[in-house]
Amino acid sequence: MAGQDWLLSEDGQCEISPSIGRYQLPAKYYRLYHFLNDLEGILDTEKDDRRRLQLICPLVRQLLMSSSWLQSAVRKPDPNTGWSVFKLYDEPFFPWTVQTAAWLPGKTSEIHNHATWGVVAVIYGQEKNIFWKRSLNSDVENAVERVGDRILSPGDIITFVPNAIHCIETVGNEPTITFNLYRETSHQVIYFNAIDSSNNRE
Ligand SMILES: [Fe+2]
Repeated sequence: MAGQDWLLSEDGQCEISPSIGRYQLPAKYYRLYHFLNDLEGILDTEKDDRRRLQLICPLVRQLLMSSSWLQSAVRKPDPNTGWSVFKLYDEPFFPWTVQTAAWLPGKTSEIHNHATWGVVAVIYGQEKNIFWKRSLNSDVENAVERVGDRILSPGDIITFVPNAIHCIETVGNEPTITFNLYRETSHQVIYFNAIDSSNNRE
């Protein structure tokens, strides 16, 4: 499962995020419960959040390669909304939620943050991620300016800091399927309003 790891910062910069550790085909299965156990261990032993994400990415690759059933553990997208989520693991007081998401072709999400740390691995299809940063030059509530974009393909993983802002757009004629991991949050997700930053400078 070749691909690139990315990290989106709160100012909309999407940087290559070098993995710490190496994924390797395990001699035995690397099951979901192994992965969940390793996640808890990383939280206990690594205090730097960016390093945690760099440690988690190779584990996500290992999990998706070893536990291939996860790639078809997907709920069919709702024809009305164009998307669906299938929760793989969500336990009270366990600090992570694991799920797959499916999007129909031609769909675009609202501009949002996740209010928590997140990891999204593309399993199938292509997903254009559009990156935003908060605008300081607007009276519009929760105004954001576009910073850039990147098309992610199967094998690519993007990680988010809690205040990173993005939206996604499916690319091509096939649905897009992703494996998503979010840390628990006590904060609310915010939806943002795009403004044209070039107008503000006039
Ligand atoms: Fe998102």
